[in-house]
Amino acid sequence: MSAFNETIESRGEKPPTTVNVWDPFVRVFHWSLAALFLVAFLTGDDIEQVHIAAGYTIAGLVGLRVIWGFIGPAHARFSNFVRSPRDVLVYLRDIALFRAPRHLGHNPAGGAMIVALIIMLIGTSATGYMLTTDAFWGAKWAGEVHEVFANLTVALIVIHVLGVLLASFEHRENLVKAMITGRKRSA
Ligand code: HEM
Ligand code: HEM
Repeated sequence: MSAFNETIESRGEKPPTTVNVWDPFVRVFHWSLAALFLVAFLTGDDIEQVHIAAGYTIAGLVGLRVIWGFIGPAHARFSNFVRSPRDVLVYLRDIALFRAPRHLGHNPAGGAMIVALIIMLIGTSATGYMLTTDAFWGAKWAGEVHEVFANLTVALIVIHVLGVLLASFEHRENLVKAMITGRKRSA
């Protein structure tokens, strides 16, 4: 927070203005997805009914999010946050040098991570579904492919959360809170 804002707050005046960035669908999608992923991951080995129900719900949520990426409000749209690989690399370099510009919506690196997560979640769900079909039921290699997808997704999630923490630190804002309330400071 700038010295200017601190001065304003210490005088008991209004805190900086905030704007709505994440619509209710994006927020409910995000936290349900995170919770269901945990359930699916923990039940993969033995609690098959729960595992398959969580997995299908994840697939449904991801499907809705993809549609929302084309018809939803501005900050939810892919056109708003999917950038070229070059822009993503430039942004990653700037983050490392602590000079990355702040974005009200997803930043270019965050956008790339969202695309990667969505692709991996589709891959994990699709290979999971394959295991329930006659063609792949009991095939050890197919189970292993599903597990590799699930584990790679976990690796991406770890990087995703570290990225969120780093961006929050760099821009002195609580991005996790913003994904709960939907609001971010306007500038
Ligand atoms: C407790 C762990 C998690 C935290 C703290 C967290 C936090 C966040 C935050 C703050 C954002 C917004 C980033 C921004 O400001 O640009 C975000 C976006 C996102 N996260 Fe997470 N996340 C977590 C777990 C997960 C998991 C497990 C998944 C996938 C299974 C996931 C998938 C996503 C996706 C797809 C978005 C984009 C949201 C959208 O535009 O619809 N996150 N996350
Ligand atoms: C994104 C969501 C999903 C995650 C994170 C996930 C994760 C996992 C994990 C970690 C295992 C344990 C693998 C092992 O140790 O052998 C597993 C097994 C399994 N999953 Fe999923 N899965 C998901 C979605 C699905 C879906 C949608 C289905 C079916 C429609 C499914 C069906 C299965 C089956 C049948 C097994 C047992 C395979 C075996 O033991 O060889 N999964 N999953």
